Amino acid sequence: MASSNPPRPRAGILEIEPYVAGQSSVPGRNRVVKLSSNETPLGPSIRAIEAFRAAAEDLYSYPEGSGRDLRSALARKYGLEAERILHGNGSDEILAVHTQAYLSPGDDSIATEHSFPIYEIATLAANARAILVPNRNNCTDIDAMIAALTPRTRIVFVCSPDNPNGTYVPKSELERLHAALPSDVLLVIDGAYAEYARAADYSAGDFLVRRADNVVMTRTFSKIYGLAALRIGWAYAPVAVADVVNRIRLPFNTNRPAQMAALAALGDEAHFKAASDHNAKWLPWLEREITALGVRVVPSQGNFLLLDFAALGKGTALAADAALKNEGLILRALVNYGLPECLRLTVGLEEANRAVVGVLGKFLAGRK
Ligand SMILES: Cc1ncc(COP(=O)(O)O)c(C=O)c1O
Repeated sequence: MASSNPPRPRAGILEIEPYVAGQSSVPGRNRVVKLSSNETPLGPSIRAIEAFRAAAEDLYSYPEGSGRDLRSALARKYGLEAERILHGNGSDEILAVHTQAYLSPGDDSIATEHSFPIYEIATLAANARAILVPNRNNCTDIDAMIAALTPRTRIVFVCSPDNPNGTYVPKSELERLHAALPSDVLLVIDGAYAEYARAADYSAGDFLVRRADNVVMTRTFSKIYGLAALRIGWAYAPVAVADVVNRIRLPFNTNRPAQMAALAALGDEAHFKAASDHNAKWLPWLEREITALGVRVVPSQGNFLLLDFAALGKGTALAADAALKNEGLILRALVNYGLPECLRLTVGLEEANRAVVGVLGKFLAGRK
């Protein structure tokens, strides 16, 4: 019998729309290509796979809880201080833990509309208010972010390159935003796609972390390193912030196979370069070809493109999505991001990229 007084979650939690992950199957089709979660089509380095297999020999014991070897390797690779590096169960965990540590009920966080949903989810979970500011031409609007600051603002999230828009915040704009923030507001710069960005004025924000006490840069092994299944990410943070986060993250938040695979992946520069070069070749190709079909494509610094079908009539994006799925090509419909007239396409292998352009071309020709 249902109780009249069941356990109640804390305020804010029932307002959360559960995160919807990218689809990975199509009913009735056993061969599909998943282009819906911004994973690398090259997969991980073989060295990472071997390290993962080797870790299987030692599953009985707890991992080294501080992620010491991985943090040291990251510090060496990027010229950072190991004691200021945090490791996490994906950068998702890192974002969530910062939110848990720095937002009290009734505080505000600021992020942009139509961006990665975890900023809002983590804020609501802390019973705080998520202020989402509109973009300008698909770009993060720094002036709007500054204008949205309130005395209760404790965290500002910047996603650069932004998911799903693909646009980025230039280094000078990061500086301008930071200069406008009170010193007790934490600026979290999410660089999940940082390794793909090639714009000369792009920065993942480490320069700001180095010189300020209120800036954190988050990164992941899920994207260019191809280790999404293992859930491993990291952050570069001020010493005091790292100390706070280390008090509340779970003691063994990253597992040993993940730590070992990430460490091996970091050492495989040739594989990293192959993934980066593949993207640098096919991202502009897709942008050109899909633009030529009459779809608005937002220029991207990531490994994905936002395709905007709005000018082609309401419902075109979802109809295109259905046509692509029908051929086993799974893109990301963006209804949950508040962009129902758009799809997000992850750069795939050559065959998949050509197939997407072919199917889209046929679909759009059929509507004329
Ligand atoms: C912008 C952004 N940040 C963070 C993440 C989370 O990545 P992770 O797999 O490291 O949790 C994603 C994953 O899609 C993302 O797109």
